[in-house]
Amino acid sequence: MKEFEIVTSLDEFDTESKYLIHKAKEAALNAYAPYSKFLVGAALILEDGTLITGSNQENASYPLCMCAERVALYAAVAQHPEKKIMKMAIIAHKKNHKELSPAASCGACRQVMAEFEERQQAPIEVIMHHTDNQWIKCTSASSLLPFVFNKASLKND
Ligand code: THU
Repeated sequence: MKEFEIVTSLDEFDTESKYLIHKAKEAALNAYAPYSKFLVGAALILEDGTLITGSNQENASYPLCMCAERVALYAAVAQHPEKKIMKMAIIAHKKNHKELSPAASCGACRQVMAEFEERQQAPIEVIMHHTDNQWIKCTSASSLLPFVFNKASLKND
């Protein structure tokens, strides 16, 4: 199976993926982004079908801003620590709230996704909005972060 795929139309996604994209769009409307005005939404689905969403939450103390992806990922494990995360969709709204911006997850979120995969010993499929009608589909979050720093890297004995 390919690690990445560029999907050129929403219609090419299965029903579950379309649902997650829709929920990510809804979640972005709850973003608190008065500083960047960049509204990001993330939606993920757990192995039992539970949906968890997140949006970016900013702060006047800029380094405290939290990305939508991590809001959703941390909420998922805080509420359902024993359930695996199967798939995640990420979108960002343009200021007009009608069109989408590219929404490539930042390095910090990729690092967290990679650790979540290691923790649950199963891949998380990631769908990110790319440009216009294009979407990036990855079979595993780890493919977004080659040569990862992880638990094994900390072994120094
Ligand atoms: N942001 C996300 O929510 N996810 C990302 O992966 C990239 C950036 C947010 C953080 C901040 O609130 C705004 O987008 C601008 O960086």
